[in-house]
Amino acid sequence: MSDRSGIFAGDDPFILAQKWLAEAEKTEPNDPNAIALATVDAAGLPNVRMVLLKEIEADAFIFYTNYESAKGQELNASGRAAFVMHWKSLRRQIRVRGLISHEEGPKADAYFASRSLKSRLGAWASRQSRPLTSRSALMAEVARVTALHGLNPPRPPFWGGFRLVPLEIEFWADGPFRLHDRFRWARHSAAENWDITRLNP
Ligand SMILES: Cc1cc2nc3c(=O)[nH]c(=O)nc-3n(C[C@H](O)[C@H](O)[C@H](O)COP(=O)(O)O)c2cc1C
Repeated sequence: MSDRSGIFAGDDPFILAQKWLAEAEKTEPNDPNAIALATVDAAGLPNVRMVLLKEIEADAFIFYTNYESAKGQELNASGRAAFVMHWKSLRRQIRVRGLISHEEGPKADAYFASRSLKSRLGAWASRQSRPLTSRSALMAEVARVTALHGLNPPRPPFWGGFRLVPLEIEFWADGPFRLHDRFRWARHSAAENWDITRLNP
């Protein structure tokens, strides 16, 4: 049991995360949906980079990237990830850890199709995370894929979504004198109910 109230109230952590993100959309200067996505490489060395969280589903978080990028390979190999979203304007963070799978069905197709043409062609042209000789080599590749795919490029087979189903979600809000509020929602599998624990700051 925990004495949750105010901004921490609610029975569903996904709805709570949606509410916090909606608040941040009103206060952050840009990219309120930016998350720092952590992975581990084959040697166990952590890696982290920003990506945009594109959807909070009823039981998962979705972001999009190149499956052959460094992060794509690390996610594919481990099947696990963590991320944090931090809003300076709200002085709050949400931390998430969990299991990863691909979202490469109609939802990924629809999201890809919603992007600007230049972004769609850019996804085709970029061999993300691999060495690039020069900017002009990249622009030549953009020209090549533009000639190939024209005005309606399909979603590349190497580009799509990752769905993170969390085993832990922590909601954190700044408190006076570093006495912050923290609530961790945890479960051993997606089939289980959440166990909610208030944590020391
Ligand atoms: C605010 C912000 C948002 C970003 N969003 C994405 C994204 O949604 N997908 C993506 O592949 N890269 C995104 N990037 C670029 C990544 O941080 C990273 O440079 C790239 O994905 C390559 O990472 P990797 O080599 O670890 O795979 C974003 C960068 C910033 C700063």
